[in-house]
Amino acid sequence: MEFTTIKFEKKAGYAIITLNRPDKLNALNNQLFTDLDNVITAIELDSDIRALLLTGEGKAFAAGADIKELNACDSRSGKHFSEFGSNVMARLEAMKIPVLAAVNGFALGGGCELAMACHIRYASNFAKMGQPEVNLGILPGYGGTQRLTRLVGVAKSMELNLTGDIVNAEEAKRIGLVNEVFDESELMEKSISFIEKVITKSPIAVTAIIDAVRASTKLSLKEGLEYESQKFGEVCGSQDFKEGTLAFLEKRKANFIGK
Ligand code: COA
Repeated sequence: MEFTTIKFEKKAGYAIITLNRPDKLNALNNQLFTDLDNVITAIELDSDIRALLLTGEGKAFAAGADIKELNACDSRSGKHFSEFGSNVMARLEAMKIPVLAAVNGFALGGGCELAMACHIRYASNFAKMGQPEVNLGILPGYGGTQRLTRLVGVAKSMELNLTGDIVNAEEAKRIGLVNEVFDESELMEKSISFIEKVITKSPIAVTAIIDAVRASTKLSLKEGLEYESQKFGEVCGSQDFKEGTLAFLEKRKANFIGK
């Protein structure tokens, strides 16, 4: 697979996507979203890839939507601009495998939104995150008003979106925007450790967990609990469930096969 704006590496059991426009701080242009869209399709078709790590080349994860392309938008094309990027991020979030963002630096605007579309966020101590769109006379267009609110609550989301203020890694962790902060030199190692841990689990259980946790943001508690029970029943029909429970009873390590 050839991409111009991202690097794609397939490892044992997982893949790494590196946003690769470092001279533009990995600003998300149309080509980058097209590349991401295509690589997501390829990953979905590859059952060997059981987790995904997303990071950025250079000093940014991504410094937002490409402001040069954005500047050319009018009302009509602006809606398309927002929808295209938003759909790619929704596809990422809907992946059946765990997706971890290793936020290596600036994650601003669309960069913060892309990180928020991932299931887990690990940040380097140099990460800087926020939704500065208000400074450009717009609002976030890829989920900044929606996912940020779900992650940090209405009050903090309102504050960050209205001021465009940027938070550092520690503050991002304090407000729940990132899961963990690591020294820059450890970020990839810690991210890969997470990935290597989750790929030892049953892919069936992992997918069901992603699905059920995501559903909790859309359903009432009653509906969510019903959904969880439904998923639980489905997973109880898997060979991995039998293997996992039997391995415990036999005091051995489970050998999951994803069936
Ligand atoms: N879109 C397009 N180009 C961008 C960009 C973006 N979102 N963010 C950075 N770049 C480009 C710069 O124009 C510059 O290109 P040039 O060398 O051809 O002039 C290059 O990336 C390096 O950026 P620069 O601003 O020189 O780096 P810096 O270290 O001084 O500042 C930031 C870093 C992140 C503070 C600054 O780039 C910035 O504010 N970017 C925009 C953030 C933003 O508003 N994002 C929301 C977009 S909707």
